[in-house]
Amino acid sequence: MDHLKADKLRLMNRTTVVLAGALALVAVTGVRAQVPQKFTNLQVLPKDIPPAELVATMKSFAQGLGVRCEHCHVGEGNDLSKFDFAADTKPTKATARKMIRMATALNTEVATIMPPAADASGAARVTCFTCHRGAPKPLTAPGGGGGGAP
Ligand code: HEC
Ligand code: HEC
Repeated sequence: MDHLKADKLRLMNRTTVVLAGALALVAVTGVRAQVPQKFTNLQVLPKDIPPAELVATMKSFAQGLGVRCEHCHVGEGNDLSKFDFAADTKPTKATARKMIRMATALNTEVATIMPPAADASGAARVTCFTCHRGAPKPLTAPGGGGGGAP
């Protein structure tokens, strides 16, 4: 490969990386910009949770269950500024609170079975995804058993 071509390729790669980084930042700040920075109805998560951490937690719920914000929150579409995140209207939000408590309790137990020293990577942790695997209702038997219709 001649030098010019190699230089061009290197430049392209760098541009791609920078672009991907910028897009990721837009995606994160995009959600954060539309979500209120003060939270008024936290009953399980720490009341002083930083907004970035709350948004990351909510994204992990959505990804863990394979759903969008409106699965638990009042609102629809892509304009999150029109959502009422504090409202407790949807039963799924109440269930999710209980699930957060359950996962926290499970993790206390996991830490006694897999103490941090034996778990250097910190991988031994129960998350929503551990059970849900991207589905609102986790399968409870092999071959697609359990879970019921969505
Ligand atoms: C599986 C259910 C679920 C999904 C999906 C979900 N949330 Fe939540 N969200 C909750 C629960 C439960 C709380 C309340 C936590 C508590 O009481 O400590 C909450 C609280 C919030 C709050 C704080 C509201 C307040 O003022 O008290 C915001 C903001 C929020 N969610 C944003 C989002 C966004 C943005 C998404 C989508 C990316 C999302 N949530 C997806 C369950 C969910
Ligand atoms: C130990 C396994 C387990 C973990 C961990 C877990 N869940 Fe669940 N979840 C379940 C089971 C089982 C159901 C009942 C599914 C059904 O009704 O068939 C369920 C149901 C739900 C529902 C009700 C779904 C619906 O459409 O009615 C919500 C919401 C939910 N989980 C949220 C969460 C969130 C958020 C987390 C992480 C904080 C979480 N779950 C972690 C096992 C788990």
